[in-house]
Amino acid sequence: MAVDLLLGLQWGDEGKGKIVDVLTSSYDIIARFQGGPNAGHTLEFEGNKHVLHTIPSGIFHPKAINLIGNGVVIDPVIFMKEIEDLSPYSIDFNNKLLVSKKAHLILPTHRLLDAASEASKGKAKIGSTLKGIGPTYMDKTGRNGIRVGDILSPNWEEKYRVLTQKHLDLLKSYDTKIDFNLNDLEEPFFKSIAALRKFELVDSEQFLIEAQKEGKKILAEGAQGSLLDIDFGTYPFVTSSTTTAAGACTGLGVAPNQIKEVFGIFKAYATRVGSGPFPTELFDETGEQMAKTGNEFGSTTGRARRCGWIDLVALKYSIDINGVTQLMMMKGDVLSGFDTIKVCIAYDTEQGRMNYLPYDIASQQITPVYEELPGWEEDLTAMTQADQFPESFKKYISYLEKVLEIPIKIVSVGPDRKQTIFR
Ligand code: GDP
Ligand code: IMO
Ligand code: MG
Repeated sequence: MAVDLLLGLQWGDEGKGKIVDVLTSSYDIIARFQGGPNAGHTLEFEGNKHVLHTIPSGIFHPKAINLIGNGVVIDPVIFMKEIEDLSPYSIDFNNKLLVSKKAHLILPTHRLLDAASEASKGKAKIGSTLKGIGPTYMDKTGRNGIRVGDILSPNWEEKYRVLTQKHLDLLKSYDTKIDFNLNDLEEPFFKSIAALRKFELVDSEQFLIEAQKEGKKILAEGAQGSLLDIDFGTYPFVTSSTTTAAGACTGLGVAPNQIKEVFGIFKAYATRVGSGPFPTELFDETGEQMAKTGNEFGSTTGRARRCGWIDLVALKYSIDINGVTQLMMMKGDVLSGFDTIKVCIAYDTEQGRMNYLPYDIASQQITPVYEELPGWEEDLTAMTQADQFPESFKKYISYLEKVLEIPIKIVSVGPDRKQTIFR
């Protein structure tokens, strides 16, 4: 078994990018399997801070090959901007970055449709990143999409025109009108398509089949988080892809029996950006302190992230759905300075007390049931070994391990690559 999986267990932004970067030295291939530029994966090392949207988080390592899988949706304009932003690092993209021919393209009109759909929903909007994710996956499952491999064919522009016209007609059906000038959008789009054509566009599943035969070690990198999964997330306030473990099979062409470790990443508290239910959300000074200390602003949109206590009901659900074998806890340092730390262990709902996510979580009032643990004052950010942790933080970790029944193998105490403690 050659493939390990890394994914977020909450509502995204758990710190996936940081941990993929930390783990990359142990892998030959890092492969993104779903999502698109709605993702923002932050890496910090040697005084650099870098946010990746489409490109896998192993790109800064000298050897690993980074693959953008078939399950990803690519906006060529954002992709080329990412490439440009990486120019100071002299990365050999020809040898280190592969793009699946089966990945779908986000067209300028997909973004317009995203905006129109959101505007038409008013207060009920999803809070999408407006990157065109939903409409692009809709065209994929509707069998109308344009794939990266299509741009190698001479008549691809005809296909583009047909789909774009369809989108323009659809836009007219929305009451809310979106202002745009198609020419202004198409100019950078076609320029970026021409640039994308020069990258290594591959039959990615075939590449991975060969790699597995050769015994290469592969790490599949997820985007978003399990509670944003199209099936198992807090529907309809979700993204449009399978963010859970199964998404790695369909998004890369990896067989389930080839998956070994499933690394589940979670924050020591909880955050959510965009709309949708968030049972443990805090609207008080405690939430504000988490947001301030944790610098909780979206890596892609800059929007303030909503903050709250950790939700073990939701976390246990994510662990079960994904078959998590190892946990990684991020941002423990942000919780320093609270007298008590609260942990949600059940929900009080209209149907009574529940210890799993109700079907209609988005449409009813849920009151979290908390247990309280002692807090700690010490700053964790300079600590390098788990035995330096204050007793209360150690207790927090062992409490979580007992309830979640999975070992926490990595504890992250700051954004830098070096602020990572293995247990
Ligand atoms: P991703 O989307 O899962 O890769 O996560 P993001 O990059 O969107 O958000 C995580 C944020 O937390 C980034 O700004 C990281 O630099 C930062 N971060 C990651 N781990 C830690 C940590 O242990 N402590 C603190 N304070 N910040 C962290
Ligand atoms: P990473 O990979 C956090 C959220 C959006 C919105 C919902 C749907 O950085 O963890 P979409 O644009 O996908 O149609 O938006 O999903 N969302 C994310 N939240 N982290 C992300 O990615 C997200 N990608 C999408 O805020 O609520
Ligand atoms: Mg992010």
